[in-house]
Amino acid sequence: MSNIVFSSVSESPEVQGIVAQWLWSFWGNTRNYEFYRSLVAHCKADDIPMMYVAYHDGMPVGTVALLRADLFSRQDLFPWMADLYVLPEYRSKGIGSALQDFVLKKAKELGYGTIYLYTPLTGYYEKKGWEYMGNEMERDGEIVRIYKKKIV
Ligand SMILES: CC(C)(COP(=O)(O)OP(=O)(O)OC[C@H]1O[C@@H](n2cnc3c(N)ncnc32)[C@H](O)[C@@H]1OP(=O)(O)O)[C@@H](O)C(=O)NCCC(=O)NCCS
Repeated sequence: MSNIVFSSVSESPEVQGIVAQWLWSFWGNTRNYEFYRSLVAHCKADDIPMMYVAYHDGMPVGTVALLRADLFSRQDLFPWMADLYVLPEYRSKGIGSALQDFVLKKAKELGYGTIYLYTPLTGYYEKKGWEYMGNEMERDGEIVRIYKKKIV
């Protein structure tokens, strides 16, 4: 999809509540909106933690983050791409791919050669060029898949 522009949440305070709401409604529970509000509010423009919003015709349609730590048992790996989210009505138009490309570019600018993610999804990240590394366990016992991508 053309007409997509990216901007840091730290430069647009007015979008922070929208992004926190997206993340909370997809991954959160009744008790932890404040976790997502604080995560978004503490992102920076030029160093990790970073979070970006994709805008289509000026409307926020998706987000992605670059974090120091995401999967708690693998503190040896960093940075992490996290919180990839696209509004349901804008999916399958390449916005998820564009957000990944954008965050990889940011990681490269910061000097990183490899980026990591973890996910319960099977099939999606393989299509986007990520290499499956194996399974890991989250703090709550959920089994997740970890992936890496070399930044070229
Ligand atoms: C995953 C997500 C970010 C993809 O965003 P998107 O903008 O639709 O991504 P793209 O347009 O780049 O890619 C879409 C392709 O991926 C495929 N895809 C999407 N979700 C998938 C999944 N769970 N498993 C396998 N393939 C998937 C689509 O079928 C589509 O393929 P197609 O182009 O052949 O139709 C979006 O579905 C989303 O926000 N999901 C909810 C949040 C989430 O699960 N985030 C990832 C957490 S690790």
